[in-house]
Amino acid sequence: MKFDSQITKLSKIKTDCLALPVFESAPKDNPHLKDFPKAVSDQIAALFKSDVVNGKEGKGYLLKVGGKHGFEYLYVQGVGKKGELNHDTIRKFGGNLVSGLKGMKFKNTAIYIPKSLKVGSDLSVISQMAVEGLLLGSYELLKYKSKPTQKSLPAKFNFILPDSWDKRSFNAGLKVGEIMAWGQNLSRDLIGHPSNYLTPIEMAKTAKSMARKYGFKCEVLTKAQIQRLKMNCVLAVNAGSKEPPQFIIMKYKGPRSKENPVCLVGKGITFDSGGISLKKAQDMDQMKGDMGGAACVLASVAVAARLKLPINLVGLIPATDNLPSGSAYKPGDILTAMNGKTIEVLNTDAEGRLILADALSYAQRLKPEAIIDVATLTGAAIVALGYVSSALFTNDDKLRKLLISGSEKSSEKTWELPLWKEYQEQIKSSIADIKNTGGRPAGSCTAAAFLNNFTGKYPWAHLDIAAVDIVFSGGAYTPKGPSGYGVRLVSEFLREWK
Ligand code: BES
Ligand code: MN
Ligand code: ZN
Repeated sequence: MKFDSQITKLSKIKTDCLALPVFESAPKDNPHLKDFPKAVSDQIAALFKSDVVNGKEGKGYLLKVGGKHGFEYLYVQGVGKKGELNHDTIRKFGGNLVSGLKGMKFKNTAIYIPKSLKVGSDLSVISQMAVEGLLLGSYELLKYKSKPTQKSLPAKFNFILPDSWDKRSFNAGLKVGEIMAWGQNLSRDLIGHPSNYLTPIEMAKTAKSMARKYGFKCEVLTKAQIQRLKMNCVLAVNAGSKEPPQFIIMKYKGPRSKENPVCLVGKGITFDSGGISLKKAQDMDQMKGDMGGAACVLASVAVAARLKLPINLVGLIPATDNLPSGSAYKPGDILTAMNGKTIEVLNTDAEGRLILADALSYAQRLKPEAIIDVATLTGAAIVALGYVSSALFTNDDKLRKLLISGSEKSSEKTWELPLWKEYQEQIKSSIADIKNTGGRPAGSCTAAAFLNNFTGKYPWAHLDIAAVDIVFSGGAYTPKGPSGYGVRLVSEFLREWK
């Protein structure tokens, strides 16, 4: 899908289909209808009268206007109430539009952007959000159909802008939106691939190929190196698997970047069976998505590289599956993490925090300016916030501020939960330093408290994305399936990071 913009008169537009955003009901909220020849605007007004077109978000209507214009078809797409326009309604406009056009054989579609389709003063935001919506809304994973049937979509969208607008800043947003959505769709692919396809080695290969393509470094530690580093928790979680663990290290250094990196850490469990503490069969298939944090980190590094952000960024991914077998680790086992702390394993299904313990310990060696880990860590995060929001934990004001602002810009919700010291009490072990579960109460908070044992004094934030990794009821630009949550949030955070 290609994007471009143009400042031109309606009468000069030549396209297969012209898409037209309209606000809800009030004619005064749609003054741009007057830009059209009277016959066309009368036709739309009549459709409004009969409520066939009402401007409600999600409602689209295809209208044949005939050949006297430079376009045969007009696609009228509702964007909701004018007063409620924001980043996300523009994204939804894109998503709804592309769903509406799906299957129609328009090669080129122009989108008529009225002056009123504006939030704030930055024009690049509008184009970024619209492109995000168009690309995210058209996502499908077709790889696993023997006869893939992709419904046709326009190959090109041309935005028609008001003549007072600055095309350069609008076009800058087209590029950003394209890269953001690309990253999120990459993450969706990784999550959607089943674990017999996306093994830890495959994930490492993907990271390496991204690094080659987009100009960053990628090194993958072998099992022998992981042993030498004493990442005993990664090794324990991996002990039940045939395939060795992979520890993926991605390094991107942008122009004028500071010496010390921001370090992203992603949980990369390619399949979580629970191990010896086996999960129940129902919905276990969803645990192919237990590398959603890793997918977010991999894609966010690639996005940073493609955007050429002026930052020093390292992405760390401990990758393995979590399986039961004769060689698997067991409840009661005591592990010594890379930083020397001892952990009593009470439940082999609390494996995410174990591999993160070693990855966070490794991160400290890089003397990072900040560490952010992203992980599908606890079912308790779903209990706490529902399938609506991730849970944020942080020990640092700057990280909190920038992550919340990234969350607002991306409309990927997050909500802060506490890192109180009482939760440390809950995970004290009688025989080792700490234990890997704190029981049912505040399961997400005790998991975060556990991780806090491996972050030293560094500014650190933890995003528990267990609830938002998979979309169960689809939205305008969020089709059912892997969400790719976090790529936009983290990338917006990185764009603001100084
Ligand atoms: N990967 C799961 C968490 C999860 C649950 C992610 C549902 C997505 C959807 C994690 O490894 C896990 O099993 N956590 C346990 C921890 C418990 C044993 C302390 C959980 O949440 O039940
Ligand atoms: Mn688990
Ligand atoms: Zn898990």
